[in-house]
Amino acid sequence: MKNLLEKVAIVTGAARGIGKSIAQALLELGAQVIIIDLNQEEIDKTVEELTKVNENIFGYVCDITSIKTVGKMVKSISKDFGSIDILINNAGITSDKLLIRMKQSDWQKVIDVNLTGTYNCTQKISRIMMKQRSGKIVNISSIIGIMGNAGQANYAASKGGIIAFTKSVAKELAPRGINVNAIAPGFIKTKMTDKLSDGVKEEYLAQIPMKKFGTPSEVADLAIFLCSKNSEYITGQTIAIDGGMV
Ligand code: NAI
Repeated sequence: MKNLLEKVAIVTGAARGIGKSIAQALLELGAQVIIIDLNQEEIDKTVEELTKVNENIFGYVCDITSIKTVGKMVKSISKDFGSIDILINNAGITSDKLLIRMKQSDWQKVIDVNLTGTYNCTQKISRIMMKQRSGKIVNISSIIGIMGNAGQANYAASKGGIIAFTKSVAKELAPRGINVNAIAPGFIKTKMTDKLSDGVKEEYLAQIPMKKFGTPSEVADLAIFLCSKNSEYITGQTIAIDGGMV
């Protein structure tokens, strides 16, 4: 697949984990990739590593919860690169607690990053894509947004919100040649899931028909499909990648 040559792609939360894998896959196909994350040092490390794949990688420190910061960043990227063809809304956090113990701040910070952050980036970048009359937006949701999970009411609400957001925005942007889809990963091996106890991991494993966890590069393969011409007639969809769990 060579049809991503010279496309300009933005991947949020891409200093590590699934976002980093998606950035790498885009670079392998010749795209110019801008990775967004919170920490300059982590971004620099990832940029240095991925430069070996393709030197068209750039890093930006940006907290996606601030629409002002996102607006400034998008202005600067569009000035430097001329176009923005692909947006991967990947940055996300968890703050797991049973509802009874969940403080309003635990609720708010997860909604702010996962849902409002996705809105902020999509709102600013879709304007540019609308003018271009082309673009691909891929939102990283989660199977928890489909099936719910005890201890993750905040996370499930944010990820379910992303699915509904995806469907609505897909309808708005389809006439402008922009595809908007979501990916709902199951249990993927990253730092986010590393912090779970062995007991919790075993409980998840028991619920996965394929009896194994997924990898970031498997999620990246699906993201690439959704950014390519091969998925031109698909929009508003949420595709689960979960070893059969849902
Ligand atoms: P991770 O924790 O390894 O990486 C997330 C990245 O997002 C980090 O580099 C972090 O610094 C960045 N980030 C957090 N807040 C940010 C903000 N305000 N602005 C900019 N960047 C920010 O997580 P992982 O596992 O790679 O997850 C990526 C996405 O996939 C998340 O949206 C997550 O909810 C989703 N997901 C992950 C699953 C898994 O099993 N690992 C399963 C289902 C969904």
